[in-house]
Amino acid sequence: MVARPKAADPEVLAHGREGSPDEVIAGSAGWHVSTADALDFAETLPDACAHAVWTDPPYCSGGYTETAKRQARGMLRHQTVKSLGWFINDNMGSAGIVWLLRCVAVQAFRILLEGGSLGVFCDWRMVPLLAPALESSGLRWQGMIIWDKGAPALGSGFRRQHEVVLHFVKGTGVFHDASTGDVLNGSRLHHEARNHQTAKPPEVIERCLGVVAPPGGLVVDFFTGGGSTGVAARRLGMRFLGSEIDRGIAARAREAIKSQSTDARRVRKAHQLGLFDGE
Ligand SMILES: C[S@@+](CC[C@H](N)C(=O)[O-])C[C@H]1O[C@@H](n2cnc3c(N)ncnc32)[C@H](O)[C@@H]1O
Repeated sequence: MVARPKAADPEVLAHGREGSPDEVIAGSAGWHVSTADALDFAETLPDACAHAVWTDPPYCSGGYTETAKRQARGMLRHQTVKSLGWFINDNMGSAGIVWLLRCVAVQAFRILLEGGSLGVFCDWRMVPLLAPALESSGLRWQGMIIWDKGAPALGSGFRRQHEVVLHFVKGTGVFHDASTGDVLNGSRLHHEARNHQTAKPPEVIERCLGVVAPPGGLVVDFFTGGGSTGVAARRLGMRFLGSEIDRGIAARAREAIKSQSTDARRVRKAHQLGLFDGE
C-alpha cells in the first residue's frame, strides 16, 4: 500500500512545476511549452529522451487557393484560412504538410526511446499520403486509432463523425495498458470549453497516452495548439514538452496546462518507477 503524498510533497511540487526543457527532461520540472517552430524545437531535444510524441498538426484541408478552399468545405465553412490566422501552415498544400511531417517523424525517431510511440491526428484524406511518408522515417506503422466524435458533422452523404490518429512505434512497441481498443469516443469540446479552434478532447488523448507512456514518462507535442496533449499528460502524471508557433495560442496552452492537477498517487508511482527524479 503506497502512502498518499501530501499536496506540499516536493515530488508533487516538482511534477507540477513549469521549467526549462532541460529541467523537464531531467525530471526536476513537469512541463514546458516553447513558442517555436516544430522542427526548430525538435532539433534542440536530445536523442532517446521521450516515451511518446503525440501530436495534432494542421490538417491542411484548407488553403489560399479556390480549389483548396472548395476541398475544405465543411471544415472552414464560414471563414477563410486567412481570417482564421492560426492555421499557419495550411496554405502549403498536401505535398508541403507531408514533407513537414516526414521531417517531424525523422526527429521523432531520433528523440524516442526504443519502443516509444508517435501518434499523429489527421483526417481520412491524408492517410494514404501521410502514412507511408511517416513510415519512411524508420518508425513502424502499428495501427490507426479512430476518434468517434459521437455525432456527425454538417454536410451530406455519409456525414463525417470520426478523425484518425496514425500510430507508429520505434522498434517493438512498449505498451503500458492492454485494456484500450482502437475506437475512442469523445464528443467535440463545447465552445466554452475550447481554447483553440480545433481543440481535441483531452480525455481522448489521455486514453492514448495511458497506452504508450508510463506515469512520469515524457510526452512531446510539436503542434501544441491549446494544449490538450499537455493537459492529458499532466492529468496522467507524465512530463510534457510542447512547441507552438503562435505566441497567443502558446500562452493559452500554458494557462490550460498550469491549471491541471495530477493525482498525487500517479506522481508517487512515477517516482517508484524511477521515471521522474524530483528535486
Ligand atoms: C490542429 S492545431 C492543434 C490543436 C491542439 N491539439 C488542441 O487540442 O488545442 C495545430 C497547431 O499547430 C500550430 N502550428 C502550425 N504550424 C506550426 C509549426 N510549424 N510549428 C509549431 N506549431 C505550428 C498552429 O498554430 C496550431 O495551433
